Amino acid sequence: MNFQLTEEQLAVRQAARDFAQQECLPGVIERDDKMIFPKEQVSQLADLGFMGMMVKPEYGGSGMDTVSYVLAMEEISKIDASVSVCMSVNNSLVCYGLQEYCTEEQKQQYLVPLAQGKKDGELYIGAFLLSEPEAGSDATSQRTTAIDMGDYYILNGIKNWITNGSSASVYLVMAQTDASKGSKGINAFIVEKNWPGVSVGAKENKMGIRGSDTHSISFTDVKVPKANRIGEDGFGFTFAMKTLAGGRIGIAAQALGIAAGSYELALKYSKERKAFGKEIMHHQAIQFKLADMATKVEAARLLCMKSAWEKDNGIDYTLSSSMAKVFASEAAMWCSTEAVQVHGGYGYVKEFHVERLMRDAKITQIYEGTSEVQRIVISRSILK
Ligand code: CAA
Repeated sequence: MNFQLTEEQLAVRQAARDFAQQECLPGVIERDDKMIFPKEQVSQLADLGFMGMMVKPEYGGSGMDTVSYVLAMEEISKIDASVSVCMSVNNSLVCYGLQEYCTEEQKQQYLVPLAQGKKDGELYIGAFLLSEPEAGSDATSQRTTAIDMGDYYILNGIKNWITNGSSASVYLVMAQTDASKGSKGINAFIVEKNWPGVSVGAKENKMGIRGSDTHSISFTDVKVPKANRIGEDGFGFTFAMKTLAGGRIGIAAQALGIAAGSYELALKYSKERKAFGKEIMHHQAIQFKLADMATKVEAARLLCMKSAWEKDNGIDYTLSSSMAKVFASEAAMWCSTEAVQVHGGYGYVKEFHVERLMRDAKITQIYEGTSEVQRIVISRSILK
């Protein structure tokens, strides 16, 4: 067993760290406060090759491994989880799904610009549309319909809480084509945002990741060419589940970054702040909090790395990605809450960042499968 990172992986981590410090840190509080989408930062990520990290170079990607992706996600999430969620969705839900399951024509048309994050010099990213007002965890209960009309489908319905909702140019949309077949009647489609009948709802006013661009999207009689269906008829739910297994590594790494960022801020503050005549790091109450944070961060990192390594080595990572996500997201919530506690009154105001990390941590227990859904996946796997 080898825990050592390669030269290339270390370089990716350093590049992500520098990017986060130099480009994401300035203005992060204002973007959160005013719900400003970090367009400039995402555009720079595209130029760095971080929007299609694991896509093969012949399809416009950087050809990196999943371990490098986890490293980059952790570093960027320490500073700005609104930037990293946009990066995660484009990398693992959109580009990965297209690379694995699409035809050559679909790859040339959509994957190449999505992996580059740019088309004709403009930002070009994707979104993953599975959740609906009445189909969140219960994802097979799709109400959005796609009626087969021969060489095209007619799409109707509404999708909720869509990350990159208004900034994406391309949507991967799951819809029911034959309700009598249950999950086997679901298809996935590549839909362009500017097609007639597609409309973007109001931006959600969220607790955390407030810079990220979350909307509902509705479809009214949208004509989708059959050539834009992903895979065989009825493959849509399997497509969503397989793609989400990889997505969960990305969100686990985001949660890891929030946990690690919280820990690093608490550690730094404990060396500066004095109480009862000494720096608070000399008080055992603080030392124990830091010790627990450091341990949870390390355990979350190891689970993320194991899952990434499995994916890179062709091993089924459905179980490990759910374990990584449930553990890392609970570590993020715990570490960020404790980091606020270590900061005391300063932790409760915006200038010290930890209150934002605490608000951002919460969503990692909800999106790409709640902690309860991860436990369903884990328990089914260990009990089968
Ligand atoms: N790989 C392949 N096939 C799979 C699969 C997987 N990982 N998981 C399930 N399937 C198959 C099953 O084998 C089953 O097929 P059969 O009928 O042939 O047996 C079929 O799919 C239906 O599966 P289940 O019977 O397990 O379905 P279920 O109704 O019990 O639900 C669930 C399972 C795990 C709860 C699933 O619905 C789920 O993951 N829900 C959460 C959805 C989710 O993660 N949403 C996130 C939205 S995206 C997002 O958040 C992005 C963002 O913006 C950040």
